Amino acid sequence: MCGIVGYIGHREAYPIIINGLKRLEYRGYDSAGLVLSTEQGFQLAKTRGKVVDLEEKSSDLDKTPNIGIGHTRWATHGVPNDVNSHPHLSNNGRLVLVHNGIIENYESIKKLLTDKGYVFHSDTDTEVLVNFIQLFQEEQNLSLAEAVRVALNEVIGAYAIAVLDNQDPETVVVGRLGSPLAIGIGDNEFFVASDASPFIEFTKDAVYLEDGDMATIRLGEKVDVRTIQNNEPVSLDIQELQLNIEAIEKGGFEHFMLKEIYEQPRSIRDTMRGRLLVDEGIIKMAGIWDHQEKFLNAKRIIIVACGTSYHAGLVAEYMIEDFARIPVEVEYASEFRYRNPIIKKSDVVIAISQSGETADTLAALKLAKEKGAFIFGINNVVGSSIARITDAGAYTHAGPEIGVASTKAFTAQLTILALIALKLGKHNGQLSAAQFNLLTNELERIPDLVQQILENCEGVVDKIAEKYKDNSNAIYLGRGYNYPSALEGALKLKEISYIHAEGYPAAEMKHGPIALLDENMPVIVIATKKGYYEKVVSNIQEIKSRSAKVIAIVNEGDEQVSAMADDVIVIPETAEEFSPILTAIPLQLLSYWIAVKLDKNVDQPRNLAKSVTVE
Ligand code: M6R
Repeated sequence: MCGIVGYIGHREAYPIIINGLKRLEYRGYDSAGLVLSTEQGFQLAKTRGKVVDLEEKSSDLDKTPNIGIGHTRWATHGVPNDVNSHPHLSNNGRLVLVHNGIIENYESIKKLLTDKGYVFHSDTDTEVLVNFIQLFQEEQNLSLAEAVRVALNEVIGAYAIAVLDNQDPETVVVGRLGSPLAIGIGDNEFFVASDASPFIEFTKDAVYLEDGDMATIRLGEKVDVRTIQNNEPVSLDIQELQLNIEAIEKGGFEHFMLKEIYEQPRSIRDTMRGRLLVDEGIIKMAGIWDHQEKFLNAKRIIIVACGTSYHAGLVAEYMIEDFARIPVEVEYASEFRYRNPIIKKSDVVIAISQSGETADTLAALKLAKEKGAFIFGINNVVGSSIARITDAGAYTHAGPEIGVASTKAFTAQLTILALIALKLGKHNGQLSAAQFNLLTNELERIPDLVQQILENCEGVVDKIAEKYKDNSNAIYLGRGYNYPSALEGALKLKEISYIHAEGYPAAEMKHGPIALLDENMPVIVIATKKGYYEKVVSNIQEIKSRSAKVIAIVNEGDEQVSAMADDVIVIPETAEEFSPILTAIPLQLLSYWIAVKLDKNVDQPRNLAKSVTVE
């Protein structure tokens, strides 16, 4: 996690770094810092807190320098405080460094440096790294780039770094392994950032550094990219950015999360665009079509993912098994990689990840690749690490998701997974032409239905949130396709409201969780018509007999559940298979409004970060 930004050019670096850090704050927001390079040396400011706190702390800095680097932190080594904040200086004061990632062998390097008389002020692995670079620079009389390269060759872990040297003040050296890094190339100016958002208004030309590469960026020269291992030159692959500035701004909404919830009719439509061709009776997906023997002959599909993406994977299990009758297993990526899983060449492993950078998911994929499985990625971020190591994949086209709580990425993932399941079912003959037509017609209606839900929920969900916001616990129940929705609803509530919430398959309640029920326990029940409705009615009766409050999500025209529930949110009916896309919307809104009413930081919940690039 953590975000890094750098600038070298003819503009003042300070505002570019500050604005860039604000855009990267989703990556971590417990402390922030920056350094500006001047003829007289470094000017450094850093603080515990957010980028706005850093602005205050920087009030005395000379803002005119044209070179600088900055950092927004999600603490790994050492608590968030001023000293542990980045940038970190080397002992001789010559080098300064920002880092996103973890240096796993930092203890042994620290010991080596301490034995040589180095002194450490922070608890971070980053301060160890900058001094390690100093060691090589001094002992072997190396240039900045060479010293960085030699040091990185000794390092185990993950990193994206940017380093400045006050004796070579017109140079920035960057490198990456496992954490993303983009270089924006302007007219005799260069930008460095964890993603392209900090420089989108300045240039559309960007180079995404590959894992194991480093670059020396010098004014007036071409960016020099080399492999860290062998110092071999790497040709510059300049890509044109598709991102636009509106996509990364709040656009009049109070929070990114709300904007992203309201974007869903569009993001789902964009995910289907060019793929779902209902009139022609086809689903076009090159990533599947070009490798169809792999999918159609697969003995098994394994889905690996974390958090919300894992919940999308659980829905995919139901869809793929229903439509294509291919066995599916869904695993937390973090468990999969450490439990010696059986992976065969005949397996297809699908990784679902909004960011495409989640360390556990990436590692699970690498393991599957080593074992010879065909690996497929479903990502939202173009050019992400997962997108680059997979054999094939499909982007979700949800657009940048900035709120830490995943919303539009989830429904876009469900959409693309529905397309994949339908396509497989069509091509392996498990779905008849009539079923395929019926289902694709229904899927095409989903964006309009989502729009309808957003309109119907106005003034309804915020009132329900007001009623239940002070409860300390909540239970979410669903069955079948909406069991994963219950898990997702609970995750949304806990991550932004800090209210303890658990999701269960409704029928499991009587095997334990029912003991928790009393008048202080709200139970959110997904009771859509096609989802084992009668069974859910019985579950609601059991809940009511224990005096717990029921908030039910029901379909239009529902009478039975509506009469029993304390509060009701009405959504339109759709095919059961696609209903998780619809039920997600009120669940997202409910947690959003509860968090707002509790005055929580919706977009930057405590202890979290958007892309989890540490294990
Ligand atoms: O980028 P990814 O989809 O791989 O991220 C996985 C999880 O970290 C993510 O879904 C997380 O659970 C979200 N904060 C949930 O809202």
